[in-house]
Amino acid sequence: MVAKHVVSDPRPDPAALLALPTELSARIHASMTAGFDASLIARAEAIAPKQFDAVRLPLVHAWLRAQSDPAAVWARLFAYRDCVPTPRVREALGDDLTDALCSANALQPSHDQLRASLRLMPFAGLLLASDEVDARFDPVMGPGATTFELWRAIEITDSPRVLDIGCGAGSLALAAARAGASEVVGVDLDPRAVAYAQFNAKLNGITNARFEAGDLTAPVAGHRFDLVVSQPPFVTQPPSVTTTTYLHGGRRGDELALRMLSELPPLLSDRGRALALFDTADDDALIDRLTTAVNDPALRIVAVAAAGLGADQQALGYASTSHSQLGPDYAAAAIAYRDHLRELGIERTRHVLVLVERPPSAKAPCFSARVDTDGARLHDASALTELRQALDAAAHPDAELLQLRVRPSPHALFVHERSLAGLGDDRLRVRFEGGHASDRELSEAAAALIEILAQTDTLTEAVEHYAQVCRATPEQVAASVARFVRESLVNGLLVVSDRRDL
Ligand SMILES: C[S@@+](CC[C@H](N)C(=O)[O-])C[C@H]1O[C@@H](n2cnc3c(N)ncnc32)[C@H](O)[C@@H]1O
Repeated sequence: MVAKHVVSDPRPDPAALLALPTELSARIHASMTAGFDASLIARAEAIAPKQFDAVRLPLVHAWLRAQSDPAAVWARLFAYRDCVPTPRVREALGDDLTDALCSANALQPSHDQLRASLRLMPFAGLLLASDEVDARFDPVMGPGATTFELWRAIEITDSPRVLDIGCGAGSLALAAARAGASEVVGVDLDPRAVAYAQFNAKLNGITNARFEAGDLTAPVAGHRFDLVVSQPPFVTQPPSVTTTTYLHGGRRGDELALRMLSELPPLLSDRGRALALFDTADDDALIDRLTTAVNDPALRIVAVAAAGLGADQQALGYASTSHSQLGPDYAAAAIAYRDHLRELGIERTRHVLVLVERPPSAKAPCFSARVDTDGARLHDASALTELRQALDAAAHPDAELLQLRVRPSPHALFVHERSLAGLGDDRLRVRFEGGHASDRELSEAAAALIEILAQTDTLTEAVEHYAQVCRATPEQVAASVARFVRESLVNGLLVVSDRRDL
């Protein structure tokens, strides 16, 4: 049994934050213009990146303590959980705001110092409040690494109506509202998350977002949205580990995410699209799991599956969310997670960005596709648009496909590798800088065809040219060119150069 500490609830009261006088919440927001901003956070994050907090925070604290401006005090308190002498806090925040935050339990005394239980984080031009991340106290999640990752894949165009399922502190919902959505709804099971999201809307002056407490899509039944975004909880839950609402997605981890996908179809408008980010086991049934969950043949489903972590690293990472100081409880939790993953037979997961969308027209083909990418590449919105266009093209029959114009991916670098050890070891590889594709080796025939495709205008011309090279007729090579083009569109080697309205 993993021990759970019995400590009084140290979390702030978001309802009390919401009740702060406007002048005080405006002063919190003004800390961004006074230097507590994304660039300060980026500099602090660059100190010992990818290390556990117990390992890196001493150096981050030391760096911030050496700075004299108020922004460093804000960062120490609200981003990096440092204790700050009370007079310095009063000087940076003002007496009235310090007292109000103490009353809301957002600042807590520790000897003659103050320590924040409130987290403030710049995100997409906003300042967002949430709980400090300590899984023992079922915190409300503010913007984290995966929130940034999903936000990069989201494009807000044509004033969409947006739904954020599992909105936490409202990060994605409010970023969408700020980026031009006409109307935004955020739903979360945790009423404290809803209160935070409402406070964050007020803090950032956003008026076209509303937040509702409830299970997945229940509060918005009967409504339709142009864009649904969701980063549901997706961490596996061993029986001995107490549930943390923002983390645990079920015994395997992906159960809640799959239930969320099953509720999507009636919510999507005629131009509706959903983007969800979560982890799921790395196995051959991945795309079947998703299509079974969505269970609607009229929708397109694309899973961009990045290499996830191995079970050992996952166990260490999950255990650290409740035991950031490491130590014996951390060790017990890490072993519980590791044993649980072993029992489930999960040795590796995939970190998937799932796109579910209505085809652009009634006669456009429907399909589901899994596209594997290596973990280093994030899914940005432009790469995703390119992939959607490529998959749409690849789903058409040969005759229509060969009417298209395609070109080698602008992210592809063709690399000729020659071994110095001897002859005959030459290899042609394609390496990708950006986009979703993974590096791979190329055959000589594939390289020749790519070169032809780069030089010709249409695929019809390319077929003729390739036929000459092969000393065959266009009819004889058309099917194999179409097959190669289709595969290369899916795996990212080729992109569509016609701008099609998808
Ligand atoms: C991983 S956090 C994501 C928070 C936020 N969307 C972000 O990206 O930063 C998952 C969120 O889903 C919420 N959640 C968990 N179970 C839920 C359910 N059944 N219905 C709605 N929300 C749920 C949690 O409270 C948590 O805020």
